[in-house]
Amino acid sequence: MGDERKQSKHLVLIASPFQGHMTPMLQLGSVLHSKGFSITIAHTKLNSPDPSNHPEFEFLELFDNFLAIDASAHFTKFLELLNNNCKKQLQDLLIQKIQQSNKMMMITIIYDNIMYFAEEVARNLNLPIIVLRSCSASYMPAFLALPKLHAQGQFPVQDSIRDKFVPELYPLRYKDLPFNNTSSEVVQEIIALSGRNRIPSAIIWNTMDFLENSSLTKLQKHYKIPIFSIGPLNELAQCPSTSFLKEDTDCISWLDKQAPRSVIYVSLGSLATMDEKELAEIAWGLADSNQAFLWVVRPGSVKGSDWIEFLPSSFLEEVRGRGLVLKWAPQKQVLAHFAVGGFWSHCGWNSSLESISQGVPMMCWPFLGDQYVNSRYLSCVWQVGLELECLERNAIVIIIRRLLGDDEGKEIRQRAINMKEKANCCLWKGGSSFNDLNNLVEFILSN
Ligand code: UDX
Repeated sequence: MGDERKQSKHLVLIASPFQGHMTPMLQLGSVLHSKGFSITIAHTKLNSPDPSNHPEFEFLELFDNFLAIDASAHFTKFLELLNNNCKKQLQDLLIQKIQQSNKMMMITIIYDNIMYFAEEVARNLNLPIIVLRSCSASYMPAFLALPKLHAQGQFPVQDSIRDKFVPELYPLRYKDLPFNNTSSEVVQEIIALSGRNRIPSAIIWNTMDFLENSSLTKLQKHYKIPIFSIGPLNELAQCPSTSFLKEDTDCISWLDKQAPRSVIYVSLGSLATMDEKELAEIAWGLADSNQAFLWVVRPGSVKGSDWIEFLPSSFLEEVRGRGLVLKWAPQKQVLAHFAVGGFWSHCGWNSSLESISQGVPMMCWPFLGDQYVNSRYLSCVWQVGLELECLERNAIVIIIRRLLGDDEGKEIRQRAINMKEKANCCLWKGGSSFNDLNNLVEFILSN
């Protein structure tokens, strides 16, 4: 394939200010850079990536007017403002870029699905455009069913039907639906916002064909445009840290001293929040399990406190030497560590893929959005995890013992290891993600 063709193609990647979206976008940039393309990352000022970690990219900063993401704030309003604030700036910057460059340079835009303003910019400048989806493919059929379910009056989902199966979405139950605990008004806004999206010319999905084949087939029928499944991006990309928060790498030397597969790693991602009571249940559940643990409590994730002020000192004394609480972990390194035997996760898609890539069994406790669907698939369909039914200390102890224990735990671990091997195979020559990446490169060059 001619290198000149690739060098004349410039890829502008529009990243969003959410950790779980920024990471796969930077990983995609690294992968496409390794294929010979030049890459610009257009990003917001809020939660901007560290350019010193990515000398191979050019960076374009869009001033978004936001100081922070408040997960509890009005999410659709936040997205609308974000998109409105960035649209004209991106268009002006791209016009400048095109005028300054030699006439042979052709731009393709790849955008994060929540940065949908990119579609209008691409249309105005007549540029090809591809979307990156950083959620699971299995989530989308449930998302696409929202208008119908909303019209039936299902939101927020009532207690009487939470455990019932949703017709046409088996094995999802009503409680696995995205936004199941969200008000009807907000779900209506989400539907209206997503309905405005113009379909791009192709979709890149951070997933693997063997894992989500049936959902991908459904989505192919629905969208009728090429879908390239090139996951797991966390394994495909040679990418340094993409964390917004500083990673506490001291935990690795602590893990080095623990027995193989003895530690439960607890991290609930970049957005989940909890109250003081929930924090205490997690703490006492971990203490009572008698298992070693590494627990990430993100600063600001406990309502009304900066970090772990609400943790009782008796807890910290009781678990001294057996447990470590930290602000942010080098998660990929942690999951790859021999001492980690289980991952208590919120089931964000990046965390799920990172866990699958390392063959680590999961304990699933979703908080929002696609995490409910991911949790159901991890526990019931792929069977590499166990669902935590309620955030209560005795329930936590039982699940930790089942996951790290001998009988059921061994079987789950074996399935997780098998899945890790299959995930690796996707990336080898001839594997599905390897092939789809080459197909994507050809697609970009021919559009
Ligand atoms: C959000 C949504 O919640 C999720 O459902 C969607 O799929 C993507 O965006 P988030 O809460 O950020 O996800 O979770 P996740 O997708 O798992 O991404 C978190 C990232 O932060 C992972 O790549 C993980 O490795 C990283 N992380 C997390 C760390 O590096 N250190 C930590 O201590 C915790």
